[in-house]
Amino acid sequence: MAATSNTKQTFFDNWAGQYDLLINRVFMGSVHRRFWEMAKVPFGAQVLDVGCGTGQALIQLGRQRPDISSMGLDLSWQMISRAHQVHSLPKRIVFKQGDAMSLPFEDHSFDQVVCMLSFLHFADPLKVCEEIRRVLKPGGWFYWADIAGSEPLEAVSNWTFQALGAGDVQLFSYREREMLMGFAGLKPKGHQYLLGSILLSGACR
Ligand SMILES: C[S@@+](CC[C@H](N)C(=O)[O-])C[C@H]1O[C@@H](n2cnc3c(N)ncnc32)[C@H](O)[C@@H]1O
Repeated sequence: MAATSNTKQTFFDNWAGQYDLLINRVFMGSVHRRFWEMAKVPFGAQVLDVGCGTGQALIQLGRQRPDISSMGLDLSWQMISRAHQVHSLPKRIVFKQGDAMSLPFEDHSFDQVVCMLSFLHFADPLKVCEEIRRVLKPGGWFYWADIAGSEPLEAVSNWTFQALGAGDVQLFSYREREMLMGFAGLKPKGHQYLLGSILLSGACR
């Protein structure tokens, strides 16, 4: 495993125990709610959440939408272990440990792939976009929610995450997202602010 992946895995493993209490309750719950309002999931879809953390977004979706089957993937074993501890987790929501840069799924497996505040941590963003395109079915959608990129914000974010021991992060402007997704063979379909400086971008395969 590359050094960056090791740093991220250790950081998020250490953080997993407090993640729901500190982050999900205070902040991410609203992000997830807004995300599912904006990124419409088709009836009966198979959804993949890349960098799913403790799985709260998929659990929220699954409770409202019994027609959907979903898979959450995360680099951190501890995050995945927390996701499995959720009381009465429906069988159609599955969690797995793995790396976004090498998705452990067959080609054309999912109708929708989502990423919520995890893309900024990926060391090889183009490779992740290529992997997302590979596992999407033709006509499937990718939704990417992250802090919108700008130089000052990226500098502050990098300083903060490095000080916390989480290594580098990369933020992408809407133009950079379009280029990246385009290089990977995805067709960008627009952007909308989700909450504060969190920008939601959509692309179609
Ligand atoms: C800020 S958390 C966001 C978690 C979740 N998406 C949410 O909405 O609460 C970022 C997550 O990305 C995961 N992550 C970082 N690098 C990864 C990689 N290369 N592959 C898969 N997951 C990764 C971390 O383990 C962490 O759980």
